[in-house]
Amino acid sequence: MKVLLTSDHAGVELRKEIKGLLDEMNISYEDAGCDCGTSVDYPDYALPAAERVASGEFDRGIFICGTGIGMSISANKVKGIRCALTHDVFSAKATRQHNNANVLAMGERVVGPGLAREVAKAFLETEFEGGRHQNRVGKIDAYESKNL
Ligand code: RB5
Repeated sequence: MKVLLTSDHAGVELRKEIKGLLDEMNISYEDAGCDCGTSVDYPDYALPAAERVASGEFDRGIFICGTGIGMSISANKVKGIRCALTHDVFSAKATRQHNNANVLAMGERVVGPGLAREVAKAFLETEFEGGRHQNRVGKIDAYESKNL
């Protein structure tokens, strides 16, 4: 599995924490986030990163900003992206099992590092269940294709 990690200025510390987790899990990743001390605009990081996940270059993305909201709104504009804004383990598992989410968004100002690690771990370890869920995700894909 290859993971693309990104964040704006408000997600730098949590991004470092998630890098530590990916190292521990032996998961290969690229860090495309900002190293900035100054303020940047989250769409400038979310949109190109989402395109790289949607293209198949990466299997999953983990996108972090202050709330996770800007990252998730931006990422979900990209065709093929199913980004889940999730700060609990149950939802992180469920969004993989049911929605086949390919991007996890989290907010550094919302969740502590310990819980964020558990959420990311669940997101990375859980498989899509397919079946009736594939049918539902397929309806989203069909809608996206119709509107492009
Ligand atoms: C930056 O201040 C903040 O607005 C951004 O990181 C994010 O939370 C937006 O949704």
